[in-house]
Amino acid sequence: MTSEEQEAAVGRPLWHGRFGEGPSDELLAFTVSLPFDRRLAADDLVGSRAHVHMLRKVGLLTTEEEGVIVTALARVEHELADGSFAFAPTDEDIHTAIERRVTEIAGPTGAKLHTGRSRNDQVALDLRLFLRREGRALAARIDALQQVLFQRASESTEIALPGYTHLQRAQPVLLAHHLLAHFWALARDLDRWRDCLERADVSPLGAGALAGSSLPLDPALVASDLGFARPFDNSLDAVSDRDFVAEALFVAALTQVHLSRIGEEIAMWSTEEFGFVQLADAYSTGSSMLPQKKNPDIAELARGKAGRLIGDLTGFLATLKALPLAYNRDLQEDKEPLFDALDTCRLSLSALTGLLATITFVDEAMTAGADSHYNAATDLAEFLVQQGTPFREAHAIVGSLVRQSVERGVPLDELVSTDPRLGPDCLALLEPGSAVRRRSTPGGGGPQPVMRQLERAREQLERQQAWLEH
Ligand code: ARG
Repeated sequence: MTSEEQEAAVGRPLWHGRFGEGPSDELLAFTVSLPFDRRLAADDLVGSRAHVHMLRKVGLLTTEEEGVIVTALARVEHELADGSFAFAPTDEDIHTAIERRVTEIAGPTGAKLHTGRSRNDQVALDLRLFLRREGRALAARIDALQQVLFQRASESTEIALPGYTHLQRAQPVLLAHHLLAHFWALARDLDRWRDCLERADVSPLGAGALAGSSLPLDPALVASDLGFARPFDNSLDAVSDRDFVAEALFVAALTQVHLSRIGEEIAMWSTEEFGFVQLADAYSTGSSMLPQKKNPDIAELARGKAGRLIGDLTGFLATLKALPLAYNRDLQEDKEPLFDALDTCRLSLSALTGLLATITFVDEAMTAGADSHYNAATDLAEFLVQQGTPFREAHAIVGSLVRQSVERGVPLDELVSTDPRLGPDCLALLEPGSAVRRRSTPGGGGPQPVMRQLERAREQLERQQAWLEH
């Protein structure tokens, strides 16, 4: 470029050479992604450093030129950090803005930064770098919530509550067992994060716009510089693949669905009707009008925001559907749902972690529900089974006693003790705490299996810790 050409290029788009006139206001307003992709600035700088390092290694930049560009990148980083970075109206995205500024600072040497690179491979790289960090951070929050569930479960091996099916009381289980059920769902989520981050561990840089380059680029060098497991295999795939975004959105959505189930239970348990928990003041809200109210807003929002994350996932899958190869601008729609899903899920996790760490379990209410005689009906039937009665018949015998009890208002224990097939011996089965103690099979809800389960949960946390620290 002559110096006149260079001057004329200032404030014009990256593609100014091909175009007779500048972009319209409508085009800029519609296509701009800077307001949200600014968030990728740090990743963009990291990617650019690795890129210029590679360019120097393969002889496309001298050591001196590399130094000049790296210094300019450092200055840009500084300006972005202290807020002095002046964005131009033509900075349609963070990549454009950074390259423009590097070129302003470093002149013709800066103009070599984009050698062999396209924003197509650049943006795919940035987003993978972003996900690698943020995905792990989110996984760490899942782990933190599991630790609280584990802690609360360890303290709750003496309290039973009714277990439900169809939201009808079914059989009692230890509170520890109930809390650990949520723990294992989250363990699978964390495992899914690890799995999807492993698959996302591919560097797309060097794919160029779509087909690679005539320049002697070394994608493997960039990949190893940036700590990726491997470089891409196919340049078309490298710039158009957003499976890693879709997978992350699914894992985030499923995580949030699990949080919504915890949220729903807390909201229910905190009602006067259930009365199973009391929320700490710091983790509940009041009403602007009703002075007596204490509301479980965290639990409700954890539940409500699941809808939003499902929307992020399905919306983005719709964007991807039927997109031809390779890069299409539609792909710019990957960032907002990803950012939104990760942010929302992370905040939900932290809030629920605090809520559960400080929640009070109301033993009396839970125990009263757990010890209802009807919850022991299956045990009565199983008693008959042990005497040789076929289960279907035993079920009918006890079922009819329950019906009589309900219809005639006679306590079940009275009917049991006078029934010739059951008799007074069976009353022990109806004693408080007895039904839960008999849930003794592996993985069951009684004290013995729950102690073993706690041990396995502890091992699970250790395995997770090893991965998170790795
Ligand atoms: N802002 C764009 C995105 O997020 C960067 C890639 C632009 N590439 C292009 N060929 N226009 O996808």
